[in-house]
Amino acid sequence: MSHAAAPAASPATPQPPGAPMWLLAELTYKCPLHCVFCSNPTNYADHLGEIGTEDWKRVFREARQMGAVQLGFSGGEPLLRDDLEELVAEARQLGYYTNLITSGIGLTEKRARALKDAGLDHIQLSFQDSTKELNDFLSSTRTFDHKNKVAAIIKSLGYPMVLNCVMHRYNLPHVGRIIEMAEAMGADYLELANTQYYGWAWLNRAALMPTPDELRAAEAIVDSHRERLAGRTKILWVSPDYVDAKPKPCMAGWGAVFMVIAPDGTALPCHSARMLPGFDFPKVTEHSIAGIWRDSDAFNRYRGTAWMSDTCLSCDQHPVDHGGCRCQAFLVSGDAAATDPVCPKSPDRPLIDAALQAAVEQAEAAPATQPLRFVPGAARSGNLWY
Ligand code: FES
Repeated sequence: MSHAAAPAASPATPQPPGAPMWLLAELTYKCPLHCVFCSNPTNYADHLGEIGTEDWKRVFREARQMGAVQLGFSGGEPLLRDDLEELVAEARQLGYYTNLITSGIGLTEKRARALKDAGLDHIQLSFQDSTKELNDFLSSTRTFDHKNKVAAIIKSLGYPMVLNCVMHRYNLPHVGRIIEMAEAMGADYLELANTQYYGWAWLNRAALMPTPDELRAAEAIVDSHRERLAGRTKILWVSPDYVDAKPKPCMAGWGAVFMVIAPDGTALPCHSARMLPGFDFPKVTEHSIAGIWRDSDAFNRYRGTAWMSDTCLSCDQHPVDHGGCRCQAFLVSGDAAATDPVCPKSPDRPLIDAALQAAVEQAEAAPATQPLRFVPGAARSGNLWY
């Protein structure tokens, strides 16, 4: 079908963008943990430089002037930056809603209080599982007990608490226990984030991928707890898009509302984009946030619909899903402009089906045969958590 015959609900050429409403500050790639599904770039060791406090503050100011409202502090482990409190205070003074996304390692009561005094609004704490054995195995650290203490600190200081757990074939059988753990901790939200296959999770896809039956069984358990916990703990079940066969509107569209600043000051439309070939991603040390957002080739590349395949253009869902995820399209098909391969209309869907079939065959072959690759020691931060 020609572009002219496509639905006209979204523009063929990029519209002047609004603001990067959601800013994610990846303060460092360093992390005490070595999780097998880490979303850090697999070549993070090539990008270990970090911009300084004043550069971060300028970024926050410029984005806020453009209309940014939400600021996430992430990593790696953002608590490894000893200027975190200063950056949170600056963000509060500028009027951001702030969120700390953390493993909890390095969060003492004293520091949690200091962050509260600085104006931090909420904390998202990650767990790998409800059991010490699996939590510590998957992160290659002895951190489960400390995470429990951190959860209690967060709660005692009155922060809204979001618990996050990345789900995969290892911990899906524990989903009920993970929910009960969150309930016992008094979590306001529990995000059950089915693994999205980027970074280290992409390298470990064959080992982490559950079967469709395992996912559906877990989702039924989630649904039953959701009813029981209504009004207390809200449970978010992040769609396992390989199985749901529904492209996610990744980042609400490329360059639409979201901007990531990597530790070295590289500005990205999403946390995975720096592995895409053929891009020269701009740096905040060389360009203004407004210039990057409005004028850079990197942020304009997949705005609008001119780049879309006919498969997407002829589908009435493209104004909703924006063609799905560019990084997933590249990883699976080798073409970042392709229709997201999870879509049943994608010519690359057989590649997803083959991955699911491999998961079924692995589940039938006990014990499991696929090895796990852990984030190696170069990401270690010199502390004692392993
Ligand atoms: Fe990069 Fe979806 S993760 S576009």
